[in-house]
Amino acid sequence: MAYTLRDLAGTVVAITGATSGIGRATAEQLVELGAKVALGARNAERLAGVVEQLGSDNAVAVPMDVRSVEDNQALIDAAVTKFGKLDSIVPNAGIGLYGSILDHSDDEVRRMMHTNYDGTVWTVRAGVPAMLKTTGAGDIVIVSSVAGLRGGGDEAVYAGTKFAQVGLAGALDRELRDKGIRVTAVCPAGVGTEFAVGTGRVENDPRFAGWMTADDVAHAVVSTLQQPRSVRTSLWALWSMGQQG
Ligand SMILES: NC(=O)c1ccc[n+]([C@@H]2O[C@H](COP(=O)([O-])OP(=O)(O)OC[C@H]3O[C@@H](n4cnc5c(N)ncnc54)[C@H](OP(=O)(O)O)[C@@H]3O)[C@@H](O)[C@H]2O)c1
Repeated sequence: MAYTLRDLAGTVVAITGATSGIGRATAEQLVELGAKVALGARNAERLAGVVEQLGSDNAVAVPMDVRSVEDNQALIDAAVTKFGKLDSIVPNAGIGLYGSILDHSDDEVRRMMHTNYDGTVWTVRAGVPAMLKTTGAGDIVIVSSVAGLRGGGDEAVYAGTKFAQVGLAGALDRELRDKGIRVTAVCPAGVGTEFAVGTGRVENDPRFAGWMTADDVAHAVVSTLQQPRSVRTSLWALWSMGQQG
């Protein structure tokens, strides 16, 4: 029998880290399917460019820093004000600074922890009440990493922040199931985005041969949202055929 996926047309999705890479590709794929998107990132100019590309009927942008509680609230408020409701959130904003734990500056360590983990928590805390109030259900798709399942040798602090996201997602999925909110951690291996090289890696690192594209990962996020509401996808890890798992 044919299997019916959820129609995302008309659903409203808030995405952090939406100016490039996975977040931007997710926004593009969602709008293609008729969804409306609220986009957050720090660079106002780039955000405006994404809205122009997607159309102001489909997208609203809020310059914001995920490390700020107030900024996360502003993103969620903008989604509800512009589109009347909130169906899903995609906490995706993240930074990767690589190297030994001993070589990072204190500021680099704080920035990673505050952006990748605290930022995710603040987005969730702003988004959940709005989803419950306006739709009585919802989806949270957190973009973590395979580094959140098995950390590599030169990325301990980064991996710790990604493990924290996976732990948060699993616990939240159990906490919010009764309220009709599903929570998923999408965990990609290396993806060819601005982020992938980050700080402390080189562009031609052989470990990243045959990287996935931002669209590959965005498709996993979108497919998660498309699952019938009777199904929960709690964890989705993905590698390209060219990457060793
Ligand atoms: N690329 C990979 O190899 C890979 C692999 C596994 C997991 N991931 C995860 O995928 C997620 C997205 O990464 P990507 O590869 O798409 O990277 P990207 O192309 O560099 O995009 C990162 C996005 O996050 C935003 N951002 C960064 N810091 C922010 C902050 N403090 N507040 C708000 N927005 C912020 C950036 O915009 P602004 O600079 O304008 O704020 C940008 O829109 C990250 O969580 C990352 O850990 C990536």
